[in-house]
Amino acid sequence: MIREIKNDKLYFDGCDTVELAEKYGTPLYVYSESDIVSRCSEIRESFMDKYPRTRAAYAAKAFFTLAMADILNKEGMCVDVVSGGELYTALKAGFPVERIEFNGNNKSYDEIKLAVENHIGRIIIDGPQELSLIEQACRECNTTIKVLFRITPGVMSATHKYITTGGKDSKFGIPMDDEVILPQIKAAIDSKYVEFYGLHFHVGSQLFDNQSYLMALDVLLGLVKKIKKAYGYDIKEINVGGGFGATYINEERKPYSYFLDPIMEKIEDYYKNAGVERPNVVIEPGRSIAAEAGIMLYTVGSIKEIPGIKTYISVNGGMTDNIRPALYQAEYTGVIANKANEPKTDTVTVCGKCCESGDILINNLEIAHPQAGDTFAVFATGAYGYSMASNYNKNPIPGVALVKDGKSRMIVEHQTYDNMISRELK
Ligand code: LLP
Repeated sequence: MIREIKNDKLYFDGCDTVELAEKYGTPLYVYSESDIVSRCSEIRESFMDKYPRTRAAYAAKAFFTLAMADILNKEGMCVDVVSGGELYTALKAGFPVERIEFNGNNKSYDEIKLAVENHIGRIIIDGPQELSLIEQACRECNTTIKVLFRITPGVMSATHKYITTGGKDSKFGIPMDDEVILPQIKAAIDSKYVEFYGLHFHVGSQLFDNQSYLMALDVLLGLVKKIKKAYGYDIKEINVGGGFGATYINEERKPYSYFLDPIMEKIEDYYKNAGVERPNVVIEPGRSIAAEAGIMLYTVGSIKEIPGIKTYISVNGGMTDNIRPALYQAEYTGVIANKANEPKTDTVTVCGKCCESGDILINNLEIAHPQAGDTFAVFATGAYGYSMASNYNKNPIPGVALVKDGKSRMIVEHQTYDNMISRELK
């Protein structure tokens, strides 16, 4: 068990979280290396080892640092970046360039050039101007690169509207209109600078149902057929994106096989009927690898009882280190780490310290009787917490500790006030 209770204290990957809070200071992001590794093994067993010519590109946006890049590299993962910054981090970590792919709906020429000059594995084209920018960078660097096109499959998925990305009206992907998409594909097939490699979609995030993937796949395979008919071209790769759900409170995370087996069956059937070898298949999981591998440790400060209404307990972080409750009404749960076994006598609202009424981390949580100085742990904060952190109210961004089998080390230092103002000029 990654999370367990011993001597009334919360342990995470063998480490006493109260000791971690004392040793490294709070607020503190804590990641379990064992949990990350076990997700990667599940992906290997249920996908890469089971089906030949498949790859999993971890979506760096969920959580990405130099040390995270190293873990993913050792686990045989690829990485999906969406900005020059994520790409730069992967390159600085020495991540194998062939295993980096680049997504994003508005890549700048400089970002594209960084990708091209470093010979990364693939660029996923997301709009009509991009191909010519890639060609220009390839010409300048005297090289070629593999490209895929991200399509907008026009399917909705059952999740928060801010994180559904597959609907027809989307800033992502290329609309599925023959007159729009086919000429772009033809240009890529004819280009001497790019190798037109395949098609990509991403239908949304935090999904527990495989239907939207299967519907999007029908749309994608329809396009595969048209490309074959119009240009006699067989694509080499299909990328079905990420979006596999994680458990925050009591939603049941589905095994990867629940999504991937029917996806693979549909793709294999199509190619068997077409009498053509199946292309590579790629997935881009982010949240499902990082979310449950992370917890957040805070120290409880002010406790305020509004008679007859509620009790607020304030922690020394909040929406600056985890924007998800304020932005998506995301729900979390947690526990007082130093009273992990004590009876839950109090119902509280856990709030952050930012000057914003929406800075509430958890509503109506039953916990042991809280006191200032307690260590409060929030569970499943590993995805889109650190990566979406901000300096609002000039709160420094907390550091990150990595834990494994009872050992711990910092992998990102706490930001200091000096770090925070170091770019400011008088
Ligand atoms: N691939 C593409 C092209 C994506 O746009 C995304 C996520 C992923 C992969 C990874 O999806 P995942 O496996 O993590 O669900 N900040 C939001 C999530 C935004 C996701 C955007 N795209 C949140 O905190 O819920």
